[in-house]
Amino acid sequence: MSAKNKKKSTPPAAAPAIAANIESHMVENRVFKPAKEFAKKAHVSSMDEYRSLWKKSVRNPEKFWGGLARELDWRKKWKQVLEWKAPFAKWFIGGKLNVAENCLDRHLHGPKKNKAAIIWEGEPGESRTLTYAQLHREVCRFANVLKRNKVKKGDRVLIYMPMIPEAAIAMLACARIGAIHSVVFGGFSAESIKDRANDSGATCIVTADGGYRRGAIVPLKHNVDAALKDGSTKVKHVIVFRRAHNEVHIEEGRDVWWHRELEYVSAVCPAVEMDSEDPLFILYTSGSTGKPKGILHTTAGYLLGAYVTTKYVFDLRPDDIYWCTADVGWITGHSYLVYGPLANGATSIMYEGAPNWPESDRFWKIIADHGVTILYTAPTAIRAFIKWGDQWPARHDLTSLRLLGTVGEPINPEAWMWYHQKIGGGRCPIVDTWWQTETGAIMITPLPGATPTKPGTATLPFFGIDAAIVDDAGNEVGPNEGGKLVVRKPWPSMLRAVWGDKARYKEAYWSEFKKQGFYFTGDGARRDKDGYFWIVGRIDDVLNVAGHRLGTAEIESALVSHESVAEAAVVGCPDEIKGQGVAAFVTLKTGQTPTDKLKEELRKHVANAIGPIAKPDQIRFADALPKTRSGKIMRRLLKQIASGQTVTGDTTTLEDFSILARLQSTEE
Ligand code: WT7
Repeated sequence: MSAKNKKKSTPPAAAPAIAANIESHMVENRVFKPAKEFAKKAHVSSMDEYRSLWKKSVRNPEKFWGGLARELDWRKKWKQVLEWKAPFAKWFIGGKLNVAENCLDRHLHGPKKNKAAIIWEGEPGESRTLTYAQLHREVCRFANVLKRNKVKKGDRVLIYMPMIPEAAIAMLACARIGAIHSVVFGGFSAESIKDRANDSGATCIVTADGGYRRGAIVPLKHNVDAALKDGSTKVKHVIVFRRAHNEVHIEEGRDVWWHRELEYVSAVCPAVEMDSEDPLFILYTSGSTGKPKGILHTTAGYLLGAYVTTKYVFDLRPDDIYWCTADVGWITGHSYLVYGPLANGATSIMYEGAPNWPESDRFWKIIADHGVTILYTAPTAIRAFIKWGDQWPARHDLTSLRLLGTVGEPINPEAWMWYHQKIGGGRCPIVDTWWQTETGAIMITPLPGATPTKPGTATLPFFGIDAAIVDDAGNEVGPNEGGKLVVRKPWPSMLRAVWGDKARYKEAYWSEFKKQGFYFTGDGARRDKDGYFWIVGRIDDVLNVAGHRLGTAEIESALVSHESVAEAAVVGCPDEIKGQGVAAFVTLKTGQTPTDKLKEELRKHVANAIGPIAKPDQIRFADALPKTRSGKIMRRLLKQIASGQTVTGDTTTLEDFSILARLQSTEE
């Protein structure tokens, strides 16, 4: 990659004229073009190719998606590609197929049979490789175990597992027999399991005795027991995998051991023929308020989205060793650890534990040990690596890497540059991928052989995706004008429902632009003069400072671009004069000291980077920020702290409760 313009982010002489409602003041001039060598071998190798394909794909999405769907294995071909009765879509009507068959069986007749499907590393250091043939066999056996435990097509199964191959095996076994899985992240509490079991009406839970995290055992089975204690759920069967050999309670008549059950079953399990629109899974995602939403994805459209985007965005080649670091409990783990890579016949790395166990170089060691070629991780992880220091990646040979990816939140240009230089050796393209649990697959992203990238932007829409930024009336706004990010046409991997709550489905995603039939993402964004999408944050988080609407992401980026800062979270706080003031919570890099002088320096730094309007009124130094388990900052809690209130409301998704107490005691 070559930097066409190496200038740092510079403040504009005057704030750009902005007509719409969210102002943007950040200017990022660096552009990185794909290297010729990379482009030559890529699936899509020039911007001309991308643009002409994209135009065709959105002019006639049905033709486009119908053409790609032929790459999947169908028992019976569809009759009609799309039926769109807004806001309800059906894709590939009349088609029959099975997701597990597409991820496994179809690879067994050629050279992929003995190719590694999953290479797993446990936190304590052990390693296991499952070839496609072996994974197929384990999935068939476990599918038979599910049947023995009375699981039928359409039943809901909760999967509450550590990051071990059996988590993927359980998901695929459900898909094989047509059961609907709902993976609950292994870091969630008993309360979360209970809520999800009740909401989904699950009859079976697949879990493990424990899993390893930072050297300790996470008591998974114990949490399941606590979740089922009050008898409010419909769960009749609990299947327990022995992972950690910790002592667990086995409830007679309800709980069985995975390994014992295997003794009773054969390795033959025909896949059930599923309709294109049969449910595949429910994944709960926390809305900003209220109880978690059960996002429903169905069979054909979801599989197609995961398959196609994995192939093109990661530009998969047959010999890639691909590593998505997400937990299977998140949509990223579903689409880019399990379904996408396996549908492509790729080799996926799976790691059980923490990135800083036993030391802060674990990820880099894994990359060197296994010759990882593609790494897909989150900005929150990248900022943690920056905080821990450059010496950790420097210890390992990372030259096997050829492509990097990020997902989950806007990546600050500083973090992007660090990732590019320290991990990618200045040589690997970075795909900054924008998407959501609801979209099922990547929506806005560079194509690594075609798209010139700029630090901090997810660039352009994927094929078939008609993304736009609109004002409140639904009209597209001009270059650099802020607005709401919408998708104007349905796409195959879109959510089909909020489980059991039609009203919420309509209200949350389709009410904002009902007349136009647009999907509203909830994000605020702008497009630059090249049409690149810059996400400025969730619309709910946009600040209104003295009549200026500012996105939180830009102020955070400005803070992180200061050499002492590791991470920052910006929220609004009440201000008598300005309406809202800017409150910043800042964590410093290892070795930096929090002083009043530094606070003043940071205020000036933001004023220089964005403008005086964005200057934080409050700066609080913290040793950590409150995050959800998926790494998203819990702004609601920070808002309460910044306005001097006591923290109330749902904190069940908070990763580390002790952070709260420490934050409340920080002074402004
Ligand atoms: C929200 C969706 C999709 C998997 C992980 C998160 C934010 C996600 C990016 C990105 C800027 C991003 C958005 C989005 N987001 N990726 N590349 N750049 N923002 O899934 O928990 O459903 O969250 O994450 O705000 O709406 P999720």
